[in-house]
Amino acid sequence: MASKSAEQIADDQAKQEAATLRTEELLASYRREALMGGGEKRMADQHKKGKLTARERLTLLLDEGSFEEFGMFVRHRSHDFGLEKQRPLGDGVVTGCGRIYGRFVYVFSQDFTVFGGSLSEAHAEKIVKVMEMAMKNGAPIIGLNDSGGARIQEGVVSLGGYADIFLLNTLASGVVPQISAILGPCAGGAVYSPAITDFVWMVEGTSYMFVTGPNVVKTVTHEDVTSEDLGGADTHAQKSGVAHFAVANELECLDGIRTLITYLPQNNKEKAPAVSTDDPSDRVCTLLDTLIPDNPNKPYDIKQVIEEVVDKASFFEVHRDYATNIVVGFGRLAGESIGIVANQPLSMAGVLDIDSSVKGARFVRFCDAFNIPLVVFEDVPGFLPGTDQEWRGIIRHGAKLLYAFAEATVPKVTIITRKAYGGAYDVMNSKHIRGDMNYAWPTAEIAVMGPKGAVEIIFRKEIAESAKPIEREEELINDYRHRFANPFIAAERGYIDDVIEPRDTRLRLIRALQMLRTKQDTNPWKKHGNIPL
Ligand code: HXC
Repeated sequence: MASKSAEQIADDQAKQEAATLRTEELLASYRREALMGGGEKRMADQHKKGKLTARERLTLLLDEGSFEEFGMFVRHRSHDFGLEKQRPLGDGVVTGCGRIYGRFVYVFSQDFTVFGGSLSEAHAEKIVKVMEMAMKNGAPIIGLNDSGGARIQEGVVSLGGYADIFLLNTLASGVVPQISAILGPCAGGAVYSPAITDFVWMVEGTSYMFVTGPNVVKTVTHEDVTSEDLGGADTHAQKSGVAHFAVANELECLDGIRTLITYLPQNNKEKAPAVSTDDPSDRVCTLLDTLIPDNPNKPYDIKQVIEEVVDKASFFEVHRDYATNIVVGFGRLAGESIGIVANQPLSMAGVLDIDSSVKGARFVRFCDAFNIPLVVFEDVPGFLPGTDQEWRGIIRHGAKLLYAFAEATVPKVTIITRKAYGGAYDVMNSKHIRGDMNYAWPTAEIAVMGPKGAVEIIFRKEIAESAKPIEREEELINDYRHRFANPFIAAERGYIDDVIEPRDTRLRLIRALQMLRTKQDTNPWKKHGNIPL
C-alpha cells in the first residue's frame, strides 16, 4: 500500500483538529445547557418562592470548588405524552461528590425547574448510583429534596425508581450516615425515602411532606387543612417528629447540615473525628453544685447541665421541638463526639411517655450504629400513667428505649442527677443493661417510686389509723426519703460506680470516656433483633 503523502497527512490532521474542536464546543454547549436546568424563567420562579436552585444549594452545602458532578449528560428515555421532545440534560437532579470541612460526602440535589424535580427512571438511576458509591466508599449521603413526586408521564417506571431508592436507603441504614433536606414539596410515597434516613431537615414556609395532600384529606376525612398545617416544617418538627430540624431558611439548613456532619464518622467502621478544643478537661463546673432545687418537685433545666459539662458551645440539639421531656443531641468532651440523652425536668417533669421513648430510642440506635459514645443525664420520675398512654402502647414504645440502650455496645456512661424511679431507672442506661460507668450526684434518689407514692401504698393502713394522719404521713415520707431516696443503697450494691460532686462531672465524664475508648463488646450472633416496633 502506498504511503500517505505529506499533503494527505496534513489534511487528516486538520480534519481531526476540526472534529476535536466540534466536540469541545459541543461539550461546552452541553455544560452551559445543563447548568441552566429548566431555564432562566423557572429559576427566577424558584427564587420568587424563596427557594434556591439545585446547584446554588450544592454550592452552599459543599466546600468551595469541591463538587465533582456525575451524570450531567443523563437524559430520560421516555416517549410518552410528548416527553421525547423535551429531554433536558441531567433529568432534574444534580448528583455527585464533594467535601464538607475537607471530608467527602455524596450528594443529590433535585432540580425543581426541570419537570418540577419529578422522579423519572433515569433520575432515580442517578440517585441510586451516588448512594451505591457512598456505600462503597464509606461516606455520608446527603439528599436535597425538592420534587413533585413520581414523573407522571412515566407511570410505573417511576414508581420502580422510588422503590430502588427505598431499598438503597434501607441497605445504607447503619452503614453510612444519611441526611435529608426537604426544600420544597415531598409528597406521596416519596416521603418514605427521607423517612428512612437518619436526619430530616425542613425549612419553614417552603417545604412540606405528606402522604396525601390537603385535597385528598378534604375528600376522605372532610377536614380543611393547609399544606403548611398538614405537613409543614413546624408540624413535623413539633407534632409528628418526622423532622429532626426545622429552620427559618435554606442557608440555615445547609449550614446546619455542614455542622451536623462534623459530629459524625464517615461510616460505621470509623469513629467521628476529634476536634481540638481549648476548654480544659479539668474545668470545674461550679454552677452545677447549686442547680438542683431543694424541693424535689421543682424543675430545673437539664440543658444547663449539658451546656456546662460539654466542651464550650459544642452542644448540638436534635429533635429540639419534639417530645421536649427528653433532650437528645450531639456534643463534644475533650474534642471527641458524644451522643447525649437526658430527661428534661422542665417538661412534664421529665417523665417518659411514648414520644420521648421513641425519640430517645432512635437517637441511641443512631449513635450505637456509628460508634458515638453515649452520655446519659437522668432525672426521671417514671413512665407517664393514664389510659391515653396505655391504650396507645406505652408498654411497646417504652420497650424501644430499653431495647436500644440494652443492645448498644458503644461506651455508655450515666449521671443520675436526681430522680431515678421505677422501671425508668432500669431503662435509662442502668448498670444492669450494660451501662459502663454509672455515677450519681449526692442529690440522686434511686428507688422503686417517689417517697410519697411509696408511703401511701405501704403505710396506708397505719396512716389511716393514726391520730394525726397528716403528720404521720409526713414523718413516714421523711423516713423513707432518708432510707431509700438517696444514691447510697444503689452504690452499696455496685449499681452506681461512684457518687460524685456535681462540679466534677465534666472531668469524671472525660476520664470515663478515655478509659472506655478501647471498649470491646458484642451481642450474640443474630440476623437482626426484633425491636418492639
Ligand atoms: C411531571 C411535574 C410533576 C410530576 C410537577 N411537574 N409535578 N411533571 N410529573 N409529578 C411539572 C409541572 O407540570 C410544571 O411544568 C412544573 O413541574 C412545575 O409545577 P407547577 O405545578 O407549576 O409548580 P407549583 O405550582 O409550585 O406546584 C408544585 C406541585 C404541583 C404542588 C408539586 O406541581 C403538583 O401537585 N404536582 C403533582 C404532584 C403529584 O401528584 N405527584 C405524584 C404524586 S404520587 P412546567 O413545564 O409548566 O414548568 C407519587 C408516588 C410516589 O409521587 C410513590 C413512591 C412509592
